[in-house]
Amino acid sequence: MSTPIVVIGSLNYDLVACAPRIPVVGETLVGERFFEEPGGKGANQAYAAARLGGRVRMLGRVGDDIYGRRMRDNLAQAGCEVSGLLAIPQCTSGIALIFVAETGANSIVIVPGANDRFLPGDIARQEPELAGAGVALLQLENPLPTVEAAARAARRAGARVVLDPAPAQPLPDSLLEQVDVLTPNETEAAILDGRPPSRLAPEDAAPIARRLRQRGARAVVVKLGEQGCLLLEDGAPELLAAPAVQAVDTTAAGDVFNAALAVGLSEGLDLAAACRFANRAAALSVTRYGAQACAPERLEVESFHR
Ligand code: RIB
Repeated sequence: MSTPIVVIGSLNYDLVACAPRIPVVGETLVGERFFEEPGGKGANQAYAAARLGGRVRMLGRVGDDIYGRRMRDNLAQAGCEVSGLLAIPQCTSGIALIFVAETGANSIVIVPGANDRFLPGDIARQEPELAGAGVALLQLENPLPTVEAAARAARRAGARVVLDPAPAQPLPDSLLEQVDVLTPNETEAAILDGRPPSRLAPEDAAPIARRLRQRGARAVVVKLGEQGCLLLEDGAPELLAAPAVQAVDTTAAGDVFNAALAVGLSEGLDLAAACRFANRAAALSVTRYGAQACAPERLEVESFHR
């Protein structure tokens, strides 16, 4: 029997333009495709975890608008419990403007809207909704004090706290000390380590992961894209390879990874096994467009590259 997963995080409505490449400053490009869909790192993680069979509850804030209603309905249809997802009157929902290049790479601008109105006092009021959770999934698209309050509340409830430090920003040790599994991608790991954003070789990821553990995170999983992930717990760092795929859209690959990681942990897998499951789910997700539409079903992941 799995334990419940609580996602405390963001929801954005994604407006996506696919073009040959990401435009440079001042450039106008002709795109090949446009689509819109519910997104946001928190909601993507909740949606993907539910598709993978997790028992998911989402806490967050949307605007009192059509986007907010669509985002809520989409999560509910996937089987998420959404009573902790509240609409703020006279506030717009979070919006993300996304460019996807032919290589599958993306760039994103978010306008947080209601996500910025999710405050630490709200976490205190909603703390009873964390009771019984086995895993809490957090990201950084809500105010940082809210994320820290959520991590502390999740800990008090006995949940394992998985923090996706995205979008990247420097983090205080007081937050890292509340984290059981920290899951930066390469650029986020570099920024957390006080470096300029850059892609990392696995041999560079290991010392950064060590420093993040010294600062308080109990385990660090550096997501290395097509190279898989680097896991550091108590022992030596372990590089866990991802299946090779042809990527069309990498949007939300990190969210699918975290969702699958949480589902694995909620079912009692150890961290390395949960990372392997997450590698497969994330690899499948980049073969499809979208942030939630790309989330694979459980059976697909189980039968993929075993
Ligand atoms: O991680 C992908 C997500 O980042 C998108 O869905 C977008 O909304 C931004 O939050």
